[in-house]
Amino acid sequence: MKFQDYKQYLSPALAKTTDLVIRSGKGCYVTDVNGDSYLDFVQGIAVNALGHSHPAIVKAICEQAGNIIHASFNLVNYESTLELAERLAKITPGDLNQVFFSNGGAEANDGAMKLAKAYTRRSSIIAFKGSFHGRTIGASSVTGSNSKYRKYYEPLMGGVYFTAFPSKDQCPEGYGADQRAEYCLAELQRLFSYIASPDTVAAIIMEVVQGEGGYVVPDKKFVQAIRDICTQHGILLILDEIQTGYGRTGKMFACEHFDVAPDILTLGKAIAGGLPMSAVIASPEIMSEWHPGMHGTTFGGSPVAAAAANAVLDEFEKSDLLNNCRLQGAYLLKRLNELKEKYPFISDVRGLGLMLAAEFSNEDGSPAPEIWAKVKKICFENKLLTLNCGVYGNGMRFATPLNVTREDLNKGLDIFEYALKSV
Ligand SMILES: Cc1ncc(COP(=O)(O)O)c(C=O)c1O
Repeated sequence: MKFQDYKQYLSPALAKTTDLVIRSGKGCYVTDVNGDSYLDFVQGIAVNALGHSHPAIVKAICEQAGNIIHASFNLVNYESTLELAERLAKITPGDLNQVFFSNGGAEANDGAMKLAKAYTRRSSIIAFKGSFHGRTIGASSVTGSNSKYRKYYEPLMGGVYFTAFPSKDQCPEGYGADQRAEYCLAELQRLFSYIASPDTVAAIIMEVVQGEGGYVVPDKKFVQAIRDICTQHGILLILDEIQTGYGRTGKMFACEHFDVAPDILTLGKAIAGGLPMSAVIASPEIMSEWHPGMHGTTFGGSPVAAAAANAVLDEFEKSDLLNNCRLQGAYLLKRLNELKEKYPFISDVRGLGLMLAAEFSNEDGSPAPEIWAKVKKICFENKLLTLNCGVYGNGMRFATPLNVTREDLNKGLDIFEYALKSV
């Protein structure tokens, strides 16, 4: 089977980065219909914390599917979903003890914004430039990582204001982490003074580490100041941990690195081992303003996705996934920094845990997506799957499974270095 023969039946809107037709996957690898295996450093866009088709997840899905697949969580309850809600309440920070299940990240962020508006009775939302929160009209409205995600869709949701995130690209040249944090906090104060009075703002929505925007890690003081500003003005802090959550950064939730807890947390991606599932999690007090019928879903809370999600959490409890993520992440960071010293077109290496990116720039410091495109092509020819990030598409993200072995990391890095040498 060839993708080209079927392409005519698919909308071109999905920006496919390969023509591969995949038949199976195991751990770090996928195998296509021709029997060619690829080392997968994308893992379904940072989804598969345990790699492809982990036996415990497959078993949980098969067993649950044999019992019941769908009767709608609107109508009935399922053991697996109830158990998952309790487990999520227990592992999430602060008093985030009530869960609303949905199916994808964008949907969860839409839900979180509805909840914030319902609780505060305020209308505005503040988001950050460089952020990615998804593709629905609501989530696109607070997405500022690329103008192409918004083009032709205006007017989007009203009452959304963007402010600066402390990334290199959004701050004056030469600023260090401290200065960037101060600059962005001053920008937010200016937004409050000139445009959006803080007492009209329902929520600030933020990825603690920007994902699609380039794996940008802000200064701890910045995140803590945003938390304080929210508390001071009665604004709810929505942390979108759809990509950063579930151990990706070496802690179960990235906000733990910053000693900050949100008012509303959104989760997705890794939560159900590759099945579509997401969650909006908040305190009982905040959830109490979301009265029955104010939000809903046909598929959300699927018992099969929940069974897979419980299997994922079992693995977090049984095996030392977080430790492996920290160990292998530190090794990967070290190797990437060594490559940066050797290859001047790698201008930056950044991230946390196994959420790491290498950025490609020209000699004059301008973004070099064309160099990255060549590297990516050579990686692919040598059977390594990679993905870009950043507004200029000049970052390469590494999103291996959290249980990745040193051997697979080295194998991928060898291919990566071969590609760097070749360009
Ligand atoms: C931080 C973040 N939020 C939201 C989304 C949207 O998730 P989905 O594609 O499942 O709607 C993504 C997807 O990449 C993401 O990285």
